[in-house]
Amino acid sequence: MPKLLAQPKKLSSNYIPDKLPHREKIIESIKRLMIGDAYYVKLQVQGPAGSGKTSSVIHATRRLPVKTIYLNMKILRSQYTAYMSMLEQTIEGNVSRSLSPGEMLRLFVKTPQEKIIVVDEVDYYLLSTNDTTLVYDLTRLVELEAECKIRGVIFIYRNPEWRKKLDSAEKSSLGALLVKLERYTQEQLVDIIKYRGEEALKPGALPDYTMQYIAQVVDREFNGDARYALDILYFSAVLAENRGHDRIELDDVREIVSQLVPQMTSEDLAALQKIEKIALLSVAYAVQRNEGGFASFTEVYNSYKELAERFNVRPNIRSLENALQVLVDLGYIIDKGPKKITVDVPVEKLIRFLEKQLTSH
Ligand SMILES: Nc1ncnc2c1ncn2[C@@H]1O[C@H](COP(=O)(O)OP(=O)(O)OP(=O)(O)O)[C@@H](O)[C@H]1O
Ligand SMILES: [Mg+2]
Repeated sequence: MPKLLAQPKKLSSNYIPDKLPHREKIIESIKRLMIGDAYYVKLQVQGPAGSGKTSSVIHATRRLPVKTIYLNMKILRSQYTAYMSMLEQTIEGNVSRSLSPGEMLRLFVKTPQEKIIVVDEVDYYLLSTNDTTLVYDLTRLVELEAECKIRGVIFIYRNPEWRKKLDSAEKSSLGALLVKLERYTQEQLVDIIKYRGEEALKPGALPDYTMQYIAQVVDREFNGDARYALDILYFSAVLAENRGHDRIELDDVREIVSQLVPQMTSEDLAALQKIEKIALLSVAYAVQRNEGGFASFTEVYNSYKELAERFNVRPNIRSLENALQVLVDLGYIIDKGPKKITVDVPVEKLIRFLEKQLTSH
């Protein structure tokens, strides 16, 4: 079987490539804003899914001679874990678990290094928790310690609606400095796919027509989201390998595209805990069994009990409820009442995708 994937890790979601074609200007402007004369700059970076926000900010801050504290609020999910993570990234040794958020912040502002704080997915956090204190605190650290060494805070988000949750004092300390990223065009996607393909695949494995086709599909069906381009590249290469092809053919790509779930890449899925994946699959099966496209909580609970046994987790109604809430917040399921739970993505594809993910890990 010919090997097409020379370095599969280079297509994984946590790999940050050395270059970001078509984002150089953005990276330079973020860098300039953060290292200018002004101290404690608050910057917002906005753009649609997979437009390179997180990667551009990481590239920009890497080039600065300051420490970067990175917080992904979709993963951290609470103020407490966010502040704990800030400390863990700043001080050596273990951080006591008995500190209050206020105590953690006071410790943090006293640390001597110059730093930039990146708060990624802040929209998800604000819209799901309604908690504005995190933004309030992080934009006013000088009030705790006038000498604190914060060069700036960068807030990254897709959806600007989160700012409506802030009161006028919070809005004013956030400021209005904004860098906006547009979705990638088809031509830009070709360059990105070419570059990422060259890094990960054997020479000759990705013909021009395949590259063009992937760019076209991502442009038309996936809103130019670069993450889909990478998922398609990776899964098509695996499929082509299994089929014994010596390069990725259009048929390989077509088959993979037909299986992809809109609004859910392998990276989105990786951010879910196992119990949340099982809860999502339970909803999908319960909805599939019903005619009307909705399921009741009891039906979801019944399919959850079966799946829990299959995947070796202890069924627990509270954890199911919590997991469903997270899935509602993330927009994967819709809960309109006890008898009206449904998924917001195509059910059959979702089941296939989740089954594959849950059984392969
Ligand atoms: N210009 C580019 N060149 C190469 N790879 C890119 C480029 N832009 C994005 N990518 C890759 O695409 C994936 C998505 O990019 P990134 O995570 O930066 O998007 P994002 O805008 O933060 O999306 P989200 O809103 O979903 O968080 C990453 O794996 C990244 O490496
Ligand atoms: Mg991101």
